[in-house]
Amino acid sequence: MTVMLEILNLSKTFSQSGALFKSKAVNATKAIDDLSFAILRGESFGLVGESGSGKSTVANSIMGLVNPDEGQILFEGQDLLQMSQNERRTIYQDMQMVFQDPYSTLDPKKTIGWSIMEPLTIHNLGTKEERKERVIQALYDVELDETYYTRYPHELSGGQRQRIAIASTIILKPKFLIIDEGVSSLDVSIQAAILNLLNDLKEKYALTYLFISHDLNVIEYFCDRIAVMHHGKLVEVFNAIDEDKIEHQPYTQKLFDAIPPIYLNK
Ligand SMILES: Nc1ncnc2c1ncn2[C@@H]1O[C@H](COP(=O)(O)OP(=O)(O)O)[C@@H](O)[C@H]1O
Ligand SMILES: [Mg+2]
Repeated sequence: MTVMLEILNLSKTFSQSGALFKSKAVNATKAIDDLSFAILRGESFGLVGESGSGKSTVANSIMGLVNPDEGQILFEGQDLLQMSQNERRTIYQDMQMVFQDPYSTLDPKKTIGWSIMEPLTIHNLGTKEERKERVIQALYDVELDETYYTRYPHELSGGQRQRIAIASTIILKPKFLIIDEGVSSLDVSIQAAILNLLNDLKEKYALTYLFISHDLNVIEYFCDRIAVMHHGKLVEVFNAIDEDKIEHQPYTQKLFDAIPPIYLNK
């Protein structure tokens, strides 16, 4: 098993930068606190924890949207935090993120075709015809079709929008995909359809996933290994398959105990 992404001793403190608080010491939040874990090639690695536990700060640090204070983020052995902007830009063809809210990631004034194509435009890949062909392929990959090319976001349901968001990430043929609360805003039946789609895409394109959710039930269903976070720290990492065979940390057990019994189908 090879390691795809490794987080080493990562820390990030946000100083609440409201205009009222000029002093750095006021209301500082330690969003991630000396966090370390490794994601293996080909696995679906789950990160779970209550809202505010620091999950998105981890995702945003990997994607270069947040600057950690300390630590390393190794992607295939290379430390992202030591790279130049240009080197990082190249890496982000291999590494993409699907955000929680497809409403805010899709430009309401642009067609679906334009939005899915945008990553190709940014990275300046292919001719105009090749780009269009890849967009149509990506539409079929997410079980839509080319009639969506000229549609606008307001014409689509939440689940369809999330499919478009997924299409615009896989169009770059990444190896590694971060999904941050990617199904949390959807109805349960639509959640299941999107999770099944992600599993199909994983097989088709040999993807590795970092799947983030506050919902342990969804994480358990989807992931091979599960990391639990609490107040910016790692509580434990376990194999999903061993879930009911091992003694969990008290915090993890609390999360399990909070799952409504209708979901516990074992
Ligand atoms: N840009 C920011 N500025 C200030 N505080 C932040 C920022 N982003 C996150 N935080 C704080 O860091 C903590 C962790 O947040 P986050 O990583 O979003 O958690 P999660 O994704 O698990 O809900 C929270 O207390 C949050 O308020
Ligand atoms: Mg979050």
